[in-house]
Amino acid sequence: MSLPPPTFARLHLGAAYYPEHWPEERWPEDIRLMRKARLTVARLAEFAWSTLEPTEGEFHFDWLDRAISALASAGIVSVLGTPTAAPPAWLVQQNPDLLAVDESGHRVQFGNRCHYCVNSPEFHAATRRIVGAMAERFGSTPHVIGWQLDNEYNRVCYCDRCRGLFQRYLAEKFGSLDALNRHWSTRYWSQTYSGWEQIPIPIGPHNPGLMLEFKHFVTESYRKFQRLQLDALRSHLRPGVWITHNFMGWFNGFDHYVLTRDLDLASWDWYVGTGHHDYLTSGAKHDLTHGFKRRNFWLIETQPGNVNWSSTNNTLNKGEARAMAWHAVAHGADAVLYWQWRSALGGQEQYHGALVDQSGQPRPFYEEVQQLGRDFAVASPLLSSSAVVSDVALLNSYDSRWSIQWQRHHRDFDYVAHFNHYYRPLAVRNIAADVISTDAPLEGYKLVIAPALLVLNGSRATRLRDFVERGGHLVLTIRCGMKDEYNALLPSRQPGPLADVAGVEVEEYYALLEPIPVAGEWFAGTSRLWAERLKVRDEASTQVIAHYGVANGWLDDQPAVTVHPHGEGRVYFVGSYLDDASQQSLLDRIVATARIEPVMETPVGVEARKRVNAEGVEVLIVINHTRAKQFVRLPWPAREHLSGQSVEGKLKLASYGVAVLTPLT
Ligand code: GLA
Ligand code: ZN
Repeated sequence: MSLPPPTFARLHLGAAYYPEHWPEERWPEDIRLMRKARLTVARLAEFAWSTLEPTEGEFHFDWLDRAISALASAGIVSVLGTPTAAPPAWLVQQNPDLLAVDESGHRVQFGNRCHYCVNSPEFHAATRRIVGAMAERFGSTPHVIGWQLDNEYNRVCYCDRCRGLFQRYLAEKFGSLDALNRHWSTRYWSQTYSGWEQIPIPIGPHNPGLMLEFKHFVTESYRKFQRLQLDALRSHLRPGVWITHNFMGWFNGFDHYVLTRDLDLASWDWYVGTGHHDYLTSGAKHDLTHGFKRRNFWLIETQPGNVNWSSTNNTLNKGEARAMAWHAVAHGADAVLYWQWRSALGGQEQYHGALVDQSGQPRPFYEEVQQLGRDFAVASPLLSSSAVVSDVALLNSYDSRWSIQWQRHHRDFDYVAHFNHYYRPLAVRNIAADVISTDAPLEGYKLVIAPALLVLNGSRATRLRDFVERGGHLVLTIRCGMKDEYNALLPSRQPGPLADVAGVEVEEYYALLEPIPVAGEWFAGTSRLWAERLKVRDEASTQVIAHYGVANGWLDDQPAVTVHPHGEGRVYFVGSYLDDASQQSLLDRIVATARIEPVMETPVGVEARKRVNAEGVEVLIVINHTRAKQFVRLPWPAREHLSGQSVEGKLKLASYGVAVLTPLT
């Protein structure tokens, strides 16, 4: 289920372009090459503060104006970045105190990026000035279609000012020290606070309540910083011009649902780093970004062959990046932009992949982008204003993730890996799933999965209960329903307020040294890392799907996986971390019972996804993510748009081949 389709008129292909790195005489050649590859968008200015404002209040915008115009005359639109991730040397010299302070109390050094304290008033003033001036100058420029704020928010500051603001944030949130002390159980280890100024910023392990609130404070700090930029921009923008920020997939420095609320569009930066991409888990990152606004997004940066920052910066195989671009589109991306067009001769990223090399000539990878340019030109009319549609939602909760990360209980228990353990069996069957906030509406879904939804409050529980009552199928898993929103244990057994709808409660949880046996009618396998011993509350109607075998004695013969009817729907409780084959069998059964159909059946390694456009046409995108050729049986005679051919019966996909299909009428 998704919101109405977005209004982008086309599928965009582009690159980050830094004309300020090059003499202006070079620009026409760059633009000619961009045009030759059919790039339609360039991303400009995001780190150009020292060029745009070389001294306080002296703005040099003409060069950017000329770059935008030159691109526009080649049919290339621009997205402008606000340059605040790179506060210039003169600004830092005037306000040394705007540099962030790290955990050990040292000021960070100037000369990398994001070296600012996100709460510095001097930095805020300088941000307002540069963003306001850019907004006045470029807000109504016809060929600027969107803006990106800052770059990959990530820095956490530990300065005294941030500490003071954190204390103020707590005072506003809790109202009284009594309330704070109660929620955080501060009698424990004599942590009781009698003054707000006593409360530290947590460094390393600390009181779980304090740690969670600090994450909320960091989120709030970035939200305010972002608001300041939004306020400086919005009133100057032509109608239809959007504002985004480039997020980083599963990065967890703050709550992305809070930050994306104020933005028009979600976008993200996808890098593989070392190795190759795994479509069965990278899809979750696209779907996560899709879920920020619950509509199409931009892949605003991606890897042109190789990066420079990983342990081994291998290059993606020939054809792999094209398959990755189509994978992004298949999951709802309306644009794919490579980072970057050409590496600067100096600076920290000299060895990063690019489309053009140090000599100014296209690199071999440019060919692949040219092919994508042709692809997108053909497919754009078909796919613009189209949306992905899913019957399944996976709930993502930053609070739960943080809480688990700080108290893993088993060193290998990783929230995202466990999340993917539920995503992958769906992806391998070509079943689309939205990844959404635990607080998002659930209407329209047939199946909702809540992997390790540890933090459960009353309103979340009520919405899940309603969903099931109306006929939805809900999957609760290990570590669900353990804590309240202050990161305190709930005074009830798991899954807390959902125990009655689940028909079971968790009597005990166990971190496992070795996998233990779990078996039932649907599978016979093992549980690894973790096992919960379930107690059936409603004997009459709870079905035990699987029991533990001989394990630590406590778990022997106890229920491991159950299902319980509630209202029109049903609730599964999965108390095990099943081996992959058993997990696949379990999810296959759950999906079939919920009457969810795959997009199409394909061999493993081949992905099939669907986008539905404004005319109701279903566009099937089939991607071979392997180096071997593959064959897929088509459910209907189709037109393959990239080749312009008709296909019936068997579709042949070359190594990393892609097909974009609509039924032949
Ligand atoms: C990040 C940044 C880019 C660039 C790339 C390199 O995503 O946003 O500016 O540094 O990494 O991979
Ligand atoms: Zn600070």
